[in-house]
Amino acid sequence: NELAPISREDRVEKLKGLGHSRKRVEDVRFTQGKGNYVDDLKLPSMLYGDFVRSPYAHARVTSIDKSAALALPGVVAVLTAEDLAPLNLHWMPTLAGDKQMVLADGKVLFQGQEVAFVVANDRYVAADAVDLVVVEYEELPVVTDPFKALEPDAPVLREDLAGQTSGAHGERRHHNHIFLWEVGDKQATEEVIASAEVVAEEMVYYHRTHPCPLETCGCVASMDAVNGKLTIHGTFQAPHVVRTVASLLSGIEEHKIRVISPDIGGGFGNKVGVYPGYVCAIVASIVTGKPVKWIEDRMENLTATAFARDYWMKGRIAATKDGRITALSCHVTADHGAFDACADPTKFPAGFFSIVTGSYDIPVAYVGVDGVYTNKAPGGVAYRCSFRVTEAAYLIERMIEVLAIELGMDAAEVRAKNFIRKDQFPYQSALGWEYDSGDYHTAWNKALKAVGYEDLRREQAERVEAFKRGETRKLIGIGLTHFTEIVGAGPVKNCDILGMGMFDSCEIRIHPTGSAIARLGTISQGQGHATTFAQILASEIGLPADSITIEEGDTDTAPYGLGTYGSRSTPVAGAATAMAGRKIRAKAQMIAAYLLEVHDGDLEWDVDRFVVKGAPERFKTMAEIAYASYNQAIPGLEPGLEAVSYYDPPNMTYPFGAYVCVMEIDVDTGVADIRQFYALDDCGTRINPMIIEGQVHGGLTEAFAIAMGQEIAYDEIGNVKNATLMDFFLPTAWETPHYVTDFTETPSPHHPIGAKGVGESPNVGGVPAFSNAVHDAFRVFGLKQAHMPHDHWRIWKIAHDLGL
Ligand code: CDP
Repeated sequence: NELAPISREDRVEKLKGLGHSRKRVEDVRFTQGKGNYVDDLKLPSMLYGDFVRSPYAHARVTSIDKSAALALPGVVAVLTAEDLAPLNLHWMPTLAGDKQMVLADGKVLFQGQEVAFVVANDRYVAADAVDLVVVEYEELPVVTDPFKALEPDAPVLREDLAGQTSGAHGERRHHNHIFLWEVGDKQATEEVIASAEVVAEEMVYYHRTHPCPLETCGCVASMDAVNGKLTIHGTFQAPHVVRTVASLLSGIEEHKIRVISPDIGGGFGNKVGVYPGYVCAIVASIVTGKPVKWIEDRMENLTATAFARDYWMKGRIAATKDGRITALSCHVTADHGAFDACADPTKFPAGFFSIVTGSYDIPVAYVGVDGVYTNKAPGGVAYRCSFRVTEAAYLIERMIEVLAIELGMDAAEVRAKNFIRKDQFPYQSALGWEYDSGDYHTAWNKALKAVGYEDLRREQAERVEAFKRGETRKLIGIGLTHFTEIVGAGPVKNCDILGMGMFDSCEIRIHPTGSAIARLGTISQGQGHATTFAQILASEIGLPADSITIEEGDTDTAPYGLGTYGSRSTPVAGAATAMAGRKIRAKAQMIAAYLLEVHDGDLEWDVDRFVVKGAPERFKTMAEIAYASYNQAIPGLEPGLEAVSYYDPPNMTYPFGAYVCVMEIDVDTGVADIRQFYALDDCGTRINPMIIEGQVHGGLTEAFAIAMGQEIAYDEIGNVKNATLMDFFLPTAWETPHYVTDFTETPSPHHPIGAKGVGESPNVGGVPAFSNAVHDAFRVFGLKQAHMPHDHWRIWKIAHDLGL
């Protein structure tokens, strides 16, 4: 009964707003096979594209014979660079200010590079025709090692850049050099290191790996020649940016292009970039006048679309004898592959790597990153991390461990001694960031207590003694990590992609009967936006989350936004949602005042209604106000209840966490059993605790994969050694460890609801926790640094090399 008074608590409960573990509304369709993915789309008379790819990592293309392929019944066209050149589409700009071949233009630079695009009326005919295209290659010397690529006599990879001594990010000092990016005070850092009581130094390699979303990349391009409208359905993490790029490349006016990201089976950074497949499908659709679908297979995805990491990081950390850090210096040799196609904000060629001082109060620091071309696939995407944050977190968390060894101290104590204190926030880092809020000591102490840290160390020491007596062959490793992320790119003044400032947006329409639709510039890829953004709104406007539809991913209907990656959705689009909600509420207050015949200021907001101050029986609910906004003529007010907000965040948000991993390692087999994994995350105000837990489980599992086995490895002639799921480690429920999650809640002071991002934290913090556990098990036997991934063979090798 609507009229029966219900308690305030019941009204709050009914909204399912902030803090409620609301079940994911998306899952109704996902669990019943009703998702709508790109490859589900079948348009009338649709054609299918497939690529001829290079088997060589570096070769000259001397001839391409398409005749046999064209003769195959069902084949419509075979495109090569020669066909694209008149349209000036044989090369395309990259997000990093470089350019990339769409189809091989005279040479190929990595295995799997796109050489020709076959279009046929059937997917299988297209695949058969790929085998009939005869390409002659003349092999060239291959470089897959970035250090060798910088040697004076290294082969010239990018002949198109011959003689260019500067690029998008400044001076190039070698024909395979891309840029040197520097942050911090180099001289002051060197001075402190030179006179330090203790210096620890290490080369830390974060290997090349690759996101592995369930759905690979693909699109369906459909040119409607009659209306001059191009529609592209695709696996895009930033649909509006794709629309802008498509307009700039094709010359088609932006309002005549509609980009739709339907359900996306995971992104993890893999679907941020622009790939040759998109360009070729669009051209083929324009040329043939028919829709053209291109969907890559798993091997193509792992071999040719954007990789992640591949950073060689040389760290030097200085400290006093009692463990107070005084300086940090890092030099990175960044292997970018054949083209610089990193997906980073324009002014940050190494992303947010300069968050490398981590959770520690380090007075002076310096970072230098050299980008290098090699004969590997291009990319450098933020695989579940905010633009190279995971590399930075891995380096600092390894350097803390190496420093602890140098000092002969417990690594937990070194961390606690150097944390930025709660009273130091907002904290200005030596490398230029302003951390918004944090309480690291509280989180750290909670984590150590939860795992029984001292008992664990005692047990570990006893195990070592038993090992030495020959009573066991298993060691215990305790992996510690305290990470700080930087997410929510970003203030428009310093973050842009291809010149588009990194704001985000939300547009809300309230319907007369008290339900609503909100459209956002972001796009969920499994994160549950339809669930959580409705919760933000429910708390802001007092309509139940179940009565609010969230829609994303259609550029014809959604307001312009920069998309979803780098955990930016909650910090930026989440903020836009709250702000648009507040505009709705402001207008609703005026309507309520009119209806209740009082002054605006005489009303106060109470969960789902405006109440006359001091007269709680006199109120108007949001549903009543919504109806009135459409059916009453209110003097001085336009009808309707709608609002839009474009939000430019004043700062990033800085989530953090404390993780502990306990491993049992069998030194004879190299098998590492994860006995315990405790993850404490602080993402500020928590919107949906259940979704956060799901995000943490997923991120930790990807971290486990990366740390313990997942990699993209090349042999000396540039063959990808693990391009199938037989060789590429993707953990199943069988391998995945059990996780215990926990939290503290330190709101962001500048976010409208105090929320920080969380999607990527577990990957950022998880990798060093797993890796530190492996290292820690062997610390007493003299291990300082061993490269990931720590698969069984590599762990066995550590034990073997230490003579165990
Ligand atoms: O940008 P992306 O969606 O990948 O990452 P995110 O902003 O960290 O959000 C991931 C999911 O966690 C979304 O459904 C968020 O709304 C939810 N979340 C939350 O419930 N509370 C937070 N403080 C942060 C995120």
